[in-house]
Amino acid sequence: MASIKLTVNGTAHTVDVADPEMPLLYVLMDDLQLNGPKYGCGLSQCGACTVLLDGEPIRSCQTPVSLAAGHDVLTIEGLGTMENPHRIQQLFMDEQAVQCGYCISGPMLYGKVFIDQNPGSSQEQILEALSGLLCRCHAHTRMMRALTRYSEEVKA
Ligand code: FES
Ligand code: FES
Repeated sequence: MASIKLTVNGTAHTVDVADPEMPLLYVLMDDLQLNGPKYGCGLSQCGACTVLLDGEPIRSCQTPVSLAAGHDVLTIEGLGTMENPHRIQQLFMDEQAVQCGYCISGPMLYGKVFIDQNPGSSQEQILEALSGLLCRCHAHTRMMRALTRYSEEVKA
């Protein structure tokens, strides 16, 4: 048993885990009842489990919770609220870019970080940056519309 202290969406937590090598995703879902990050492949291949660790996207299905100890984790729940969504969340809604929503942590968080670091990126550049993410609903076109709009707004 190990006691891990971490901050998730701005709130400090201490979680007791049987094994510090347990995936961070399991702690987020099972201990903290966060349902934004999803279990997709469990093999770091789809991006459905994406969260930000100190502002950088990671695949929480393959990240031991011990690596998050003392660090800041952000899930899509922490990006905005229903009443006050982050601009990128609003654009995903405006473009109806979410079909089932299972994959959405990946494109939303990878997209946000890439565009914030590279404002004004073209759709082709965004597509390339997000090439490691899978969406089995084939909602990519609408996601790209939302992300391209965000890129144009961030640049302005
Ligand atoms: S569930 Fe983590 S990358 Fe697929
Ligand atoms: S919206 Fe359904 S998997 Fe991407």
